Amino acid sequence: MCGIVGYIGQRNAVPLILNGLSRLEYRGYDSAGLAVQSAEGEIALRKSVGRLSELETVLKAEPASGSAGVGHTRWATHGPPNLPNCHPHQDQEGHLALVHNGIIENYLELKDELESQGYSFSSDTDTEVLTKLIAREVKKASSLPEALRNALSLAKGAYALGIVSQDEPDVVYAARLGSPLIIGLGQDENFIASDVPAIIKYVDRVIYLDDGEIARLTQDDIQIQKLDGSEVTPEISTIEFEAESADRGGFETYMLKEVHEQPRVLRGLLDQYVHHSGKVDISSLGLDKTFFEGLSRVVVISCGTAYYAGMYGKMVIEELTPLPAEIDLASEFRYRNPKVNESMLVIAVSQSGETADTLASVRLAKEKGCKVLSICNVPGSSLVRESDAVMFINAGPEIGVASTKAFTAQLMAFALLGHGIAEHLGSTTEALPKQLEALENIPDQVHYLFSRIDEIKAIADKHHDGPSALYLGRRFNYPTALEGALKNKEISYQHAEGYAAGEMKHGPIALISEYMPVICICTRTEDEVYEKVISNMKEVEARHGRIIAIANDNDEQVDGIAEDVIHVPETLEIYSPLINVVALQLLAYYAAQARGTDIDKPRNLAKSVTVE
Ligand code: M6R
Repeated sequence: MCGIVGYIGQRNAVPLILNGLSRLEYRGYDSAGLAVQSAEGEIALRKSVGRLSELETVLKAEPASGSAGVGHTRWATHGPPNLPNCHPHQDQEGHLALVHNGIIENYLELKDELESQGYSFSSDTDTEVLTKLIAREVKKASSLPEALRNALSLAKGAYALGIVSQDEPDVVYAARLGSPLIIGLGQDENFIASDVPAIIKYVDRVIYLDDGEIARLTQDDIQIQKLDGSEVTPEISTIEFEAESADRGGFETYMLKEVHEQPRVLRGLLDQYVHHSGKVDISSLGLDKTFFEGLSRVVVISCGTAYYAGMYGKMVIEELTPLPAEIDLASEFRYRNPKVNESMLVIAVSQSGETADTLASVRLAKEKGCKVLSICNVPGSSLVRESDAVMFINAGPEIGVASTKAFTAQLMAFALLGHGIAEHLGSTTEALPKQLEALENIPDQVHYLFSRIDEIKAIADKHHDGPSALYLGRRFNYPTALEGALKNKEISYQHAEGYAAGEMKHGPIALISEYMPVICICTRTEDEVYEKVISNMKEVEARHGRIIAIANDNDEQVDGIAEDVIHVPETLEIYSPLINVVALQLLAYYAAQARGTDIDKPRNLAKSVTVE
């Protein structure tokens, strides 16, 4: 979604804003712009369609500078990516400039009203409407904050805003409702940004703006008030990750770096939750034994990759504990009539903690009395602040748009949670020591898989060319198949479908031909579903499909059926997705590389989907 960076201080805001915006590129965007204000209050606007480098070119041709400013990368919602729609937007007189992330839902209604009052519009955006609404309120109010409060009280929807105004030259205003925005506190300078990586180079103290808050930033002061005008005492947090962790660290892409970080992230979670006595201890989550004893059901909600992690989570919880569990897409949960109540635990899974549908579902679940535990990566995010308990995955910033390390960390979190709940409910079995030993081995096994990268790359090079690919897996590896297909389509743009292997003969088998690569996840020979997947592979083979199998070393049966095999280390079936999916991430990665796509910033995609 859109990215916002703002600055007020003594330095030239332009390079700081550009640098910040470049750190938000992972959010996805199609145009960019900035507004800077000179000490005299003059506002200069520069905009471009396309990548940030285009904006830099514009600035080279027509330089601008100023010690206050706001910048924006736009991910088009209302109207195509063109210059009129690009932010910042201005009022008719050019007195103020505004950048916006979010959607103003009642913008058409507001636009009609403003048009009837003589305002005209040059873009298709809801943002221009909001800008002119504020401008109208400025004319009526005694101060800019009052005008902002009045205008924002009329706007419905979601926004994070950055504003500069000729009326107050040394001030940047910010406001938030439903879209993330942080304030960074520096020495004689302050920042606003959509996310920490944008400003981590300059500050290590931040304020997470809350919904319904408006902030007034000068170079040495921050004042925050609510929409009703009451003052807020801000809570200052220290950023805990290093600036370098938001860099590529020598890898050709963020995604590849993040794939390689998985062993470390998984080890960190194991160290945190597996007690040396051989038990999984989740007491730090603050949900005690009595809480779990009173539970009737677990309901997992999430979107995208996090949804597939949730599918795994449902299975793990039902496998390891006596609790029934269900999973729903947050975008569906919020619009059905979910039968949830105070006896149920809702687990919301989100890397960013800012996904609009997940947040809306959490609010609905809370209204219905459920306790909410979130599995999240971003401290200070909306989800974290709205949940009753949080299990952080501690994966560090995930910049690549395609989620990788967050997914495996979410799987690990669910595995640990399953064991931890079983501990509370006294449902652990004698298999526990063997299970924990296998779990402890996972980080090293993922690391070992990296020694197979050349093998995986060669397979990707061979098969990347077709129009489509089918991914099949069963039981714990059904979500793995879905996630593998999602990774492939997200970054290589090859159409890919994930299917439960047992469902193949109910439809997708019609697609099988010598042109269709079929990626079959078939690990762990002793498992109940192994022979079933072998049968599914035979069905593909009989129809001349091109089978790429994910199998364990020395599996002669699979070697004999598949055209190509990616060999992965063996573990218990329940944990095998943690290894198998890494092979699929790499397969998608090298297919995308062969297809020449922009791997870290795939077209049309946004890292955190803060609008519905
Ligand atoms: O931040 P979240 O985990 O809530 O994001 C959910 C999805 O938008 C996200 O997983 C998306 O599907 C990724 N692009 C997957 O790679």
